[in-house]
Amino acid sequence: MKAKILQALRDAQGYVSGQQLCEQLGVSRTAVWKAVNQLREMGYEIDSVPNKGYCIRSAPDLLNKNELESIRKTAWIGTRLECFDVIGSTNTAAMQMAEEGAPHGTLVVADRQDNGKGRRGRAWIVPAGIAIAMSIVLKPQELLPEHAPQLTLVAALAVARAIEQQTGLPVQIKWPNDIVIEGKKVCGILTEMSTQIDYINHIVVGIGINVHNEQFPEELSDRATSLYLSSGGRRYSRAALVEAVCEQFEYFYGIFMQTQDMSGLKEVYDDCLVNRGRTVRILDPKGEYEGVAQGITPQGALEVDTADGRRLVDSGEVSVRGVYGYV
Ligand code: BTN
Repeated sequence: MKAKILQALRDAQGYVSGQQLCEQLGVSRTAVWKAVNQLREMGYEIDSVPNKGYCIRSAPDLLNKNELESIRKTAWIGTRLECFDVIGSTNTAAMQMAEEGAPHGTLVVADRQDNGKGRRGRAWIVPAGIAIAMSIVLKPQELLPEHAPQLTLVAALAVARAIEQQTGLPVQIKWPNDIVIEGKKVCGILTEMSTQIDYINHIVVGIGINVHNEQFPEELSDRATSLYLSSGGRRYSRAALVEAVCEQFEYFYGIFMQTQDMSGLKEVYDDCLVNRGRTVRILDPKGEYEGVAQGITPQGALEVDTADGRRLVDSGEVSVRGVYGYV
């Protein structure tokens, strides 16, 4: 009911009468009044004027079910929405839900994540109230398991576009899936999958965005940033960011699924690529080498021109670094 009231107040862009809310929601005036008061206690500024009704003035930066449901416009992501104040890892929870039958598009979001997973076994901790931890369950029909890692690139595009749209900041992608602003990482993506030999049971795309972090541990401070730090101290709605990521993901996923690879997205991805035209160092366990990054192949591999010719880098075990630092 609170989500529906929020939605109605937001859609109205002005006053909505108590009567209209009662009729729309099928509840009494007292019930509407009580819900409005509860929303005020949560930090929403809602004016009420006799004979005019209610009008929303501002909303707190909450990442919860009411807030997300009241702004949801996606077609299939978030049809099932699970929100947690605190969780170990949204990816682990989403993998388990998928295993237990959660549908394609299930969205798991947490305000705080205290046992989160990064790539290559690293941790990804999300402090309460300032960042985003979200995971999307995918159950694609007829996608071959070997094509699934490319969904990480699809997610990177979605996040880059969503952040750009919500903040106006210059966002780029460090291949394959780190989102960077002015050379510093603002978001990480971890894709996990459960498969049989030739069949995908489910995929979970996990996204962690640093939104209002004001500082990072010393060892990360030269290569990590947040939207707050990159914008010189501006604040954003985390719920609106989550919604924007989901909308963009639906769009890019639709294009990806037409060919089941990156051929329809190569151009837009390359335009976002921070490594493009730069000398990069490829940290391949079989031997490190350097070259100039050119862009991606339709299968999402990074094309690198080395002194010995063109080489294709697959994301699996390999890391890419700038020769002078992180990008
Ligand atoms: C990376 O190392 O760059 C990937 C970080 C991915 C973090 C996100 S936060 C939401 C989701 N849940 C997790 O445990 N990890 C991912």
